Amino acid sequence: MSKKQPDWTAQLIPFQSNPSPSAEPFRHLMTYYRCAIMEVETKFRVLDVQMSLHRESNPIESIKTRLKSPESIFGKLQRRDLPLTLESIENNLFDIAGVRVICSFPEDIYFLAEALLRQDDVTLIERKDYIRNPKPNGYRSLHLIIEVPIFLQNETRRMKVEVQFRTIAMDFWASLEHKLRYKKSLETNKDYDEISRQLKNCAELSAILDRWMENIRGQIDGAREI
Ligand code: GTP
Ligand code: MG
Repeated sequence: MSKKQPDWTAQLIPFQSNPSPSAEPFRHLMTYYRCAIMEVETKFRVLDVQMSLHRESNPIESIKTRLKSPESIFGKLQRRDLPLTLESIENNLFDIAGVRVICSFPEDIYFLAEALLRQDDVTLIERKDYIRNPKPNGYRSLHLIIEVPIFLQNETRRMKVEVQFRTIAMDFWASLEHKLRYKKSLETNKDYDEISRQLKNCAELSAILDRWMENIRGQIDGAREI
């Protein structure tokens, strides 16, 4: 049986002429998460500029950010049978604020992650290293859940942010796999196992490509130092 939809989901209704007052606290919470995304993105931009002083290129290719939609938040709370309250969102869902950092090389990922975690105001909540331990389907990425402070007018709040680090190759694979996986016909497709096997092969090829490119960079850097 599905739970009664709470009032804050009232704001799911687009162009609502008379917004529900109880949607306000939800909107505020989402704004705090948006601020946390800005804080974390700035931290990475600073590290990128600083690391580029020592190397000839920037370690970060691009940064993508996203705030989980009210529909997805509501859906996830329902699926996990969690209370439909703002406290429950803060205490149980750690991926409301998402920052994805796309790097050129795997070693830059670890460099950036360690540099981030050394910062005084960053607390590590959870670390999942799917690069050293890829998922059975071949997915690779380094995931961190961190907590960072946001400084508001009269208070400081600590917000959780999910950070995903990927190389261009990891991101390329994950984006296509995501698209294919969500095609309606795939789960029931008689070739599902065969398709999964091929996707895994592609993931392994992309890992080889990453190591190879990193090796070439090593050779170029080595030649420069002589
Ligand atoms: P959820 O947050 O419910 O997904 O569970 P979790 O906390 O165990 O997730 P995990 O940290 O393993 O992954 C969270 C996010 O990583 C997902 O929302 C995706 O963005 C990404 N991800 C994880 N596994 C895969 C995968 O197999 N393929 C793709 N394309 N993305 C993945
Ligand atoms: Mg998650």
